[in-house]
Amino acid sequence: MTYSIKVDNVSKKFRRYTDKRNTLKDKVLNLGKQIVKEDWILNNIDLEIEKGHAVGLIGRNGSGKSTLLKIMTKILYPDKGSLTVVGRVSSLLELGAGFHPEFTGIENIYMNASILGLSKKEIDSKLEEIVSFSELGDYINQPVRIYSSGMYMRLAFSVAISVDPEVLLIDEVLAVGDSAFQNKCIEKIKELKGKGKTIVIVTHDNSMVEKICDRAVWLQNGEITADGSPREVIMEYMGFLSEEENKRLIAVEDVSNNAGSSEGEISTVEVIETSDVEGSSNKRHGNKKVEILNVWFSDHLNKMKKNFNTGDTMNINIEYKVNQNCESVIFGVGFVTNDNIYCYGTNTHIDRSISIGQLQTEGTLQFRIDKLLLLPGVYNLDVAVHHENGEPYDYLTHAYSFQVSSEIKDVGIIRLEHSWEMKG
Ligand SMILES: Nc1ncnc2c1ncn2[C@@H]1O[C@H](COP(=O)(O)OP(=O)(O)O)[C@@H](O)[C@H]1O
Ligand SMILES: [Mg+2]
Repeated sequence: MTYSIKVDNVSKKFRRYTDKRNTLKDKVLNLGKQIVKEDWILNNIDLEIEKGHAVGLIGRNGSGKSTLLKIMTKILYPDKGSLTVVGRVSSLLELGAGFHPEFTGIENIYMNASILGLSKKEIDSKLEEIVSFSELGDYINQPVRIYSSGMYMRLAFSVAISVDPEVLLIDEVLAVGDSAFQNKCIEKIKELKGKGKTIVIVTHDNSMVEKICDRAVWLQNGEITADGSPREVIMEYMGFLSEEENKRLIAVEDVSNNAGSSEGEISTVEVIETSDVEGSSNKRHGNKKVEILNVWFSDHLNKMKKNFNTGDTMNINIEYKVNQNCESVIFGVGFVTNDNIYCYGTNTHIDRSISIGQLQTEGTLQFRIDKLLLLPGVYNLDVAVHHENGEPYDYLTHAYSFQVSSEIKDVGIIRLEHSWEMKG
């Protein structure tokens, strides 16, 4: 195989300084006594990436993904082992890196593209293309310090692809873009890949890895834990995450049970946080005549759970409080994928299976799914309570997330129950 990137037995350590001196006098008198610790952040990484391949680098925070990308970009050097990269490298690392805040978008394009190796003349000829790809409009003449992170990303991505790199390295930054721009980036990355460019992308968005990559590599504690087809590696990683998450939930539950909640009752306060999905936006609106206090997920025994398998029973428990008496109340739920595809939504009015007349001052409404047919992924839940005439009481969008794993290898968002039959 013709490789484009070869990481050969690379290890990287960082020094960590722990300063045990407290007073200024101590600090002045004991200059030499600062304690230095060395942490090995990457250990014996062997990775050969074929030219024209796209590789997704996945793993938990702190697993060493960014460090590995920086080594590939040659911003950092390995302490052991060696690295070979063939061809011009362009990278999108931390947002805003390489941008000068007081310079305008245009000025930053010139600065950035020249760092990436383009001459002034080359940049002149590509300027229009870069600006138009970024869709920044008049902002392109504003200093970048007023840019939102999404706008930074647009500019950085547009410049990075304009230099016609052989190797494109992208660290997590795409998540800050809106979904339309993200899709545009994905299309562009696919196009580059089609032209034989090599791509390494770090992301927490599994669907992006599946859409773009030929291969996924899972880093854990600075080591490669799995390397192979995106589906399989993601599945393994999700399985691991879901085990970790369940361990954490059980630990939290134990703590809260020991803290004296009555037997059988599940205390939930610490568990459900607002979405921890990177790049998702959660919003809330409504007059709170009826307020959603908490939403939590549980299994068929009503034990709290956040990670499900396709086919599991899932209960969504909506805890509410009535602040002002109201009639004709409707509760609704909606399921949205991480890349904002609305999968399913319904409410108590559409369903007509439950009529909600006068509400108690406080209570829990349970939405029960006997067989959850969503395919693996991270999903966000919208929960709403409103009046029949549409008056919003409390609307939470993308406020709660849960995860689905599966051994089944179907592709898509939902599993359609089906059978095959040969008809002659
Ligand atoms: N410049 C640095 N100095 C010291 N420690 C660092 C430095 N950069 C990263 N680290 C540490 O290396 C580990 C891996 O970081 P990183 O590569 O950023 O992980 P990831 O991108 O997977 O979240 C973390 O524990 C982080 O604190
Ligand atoms: Mg990182």
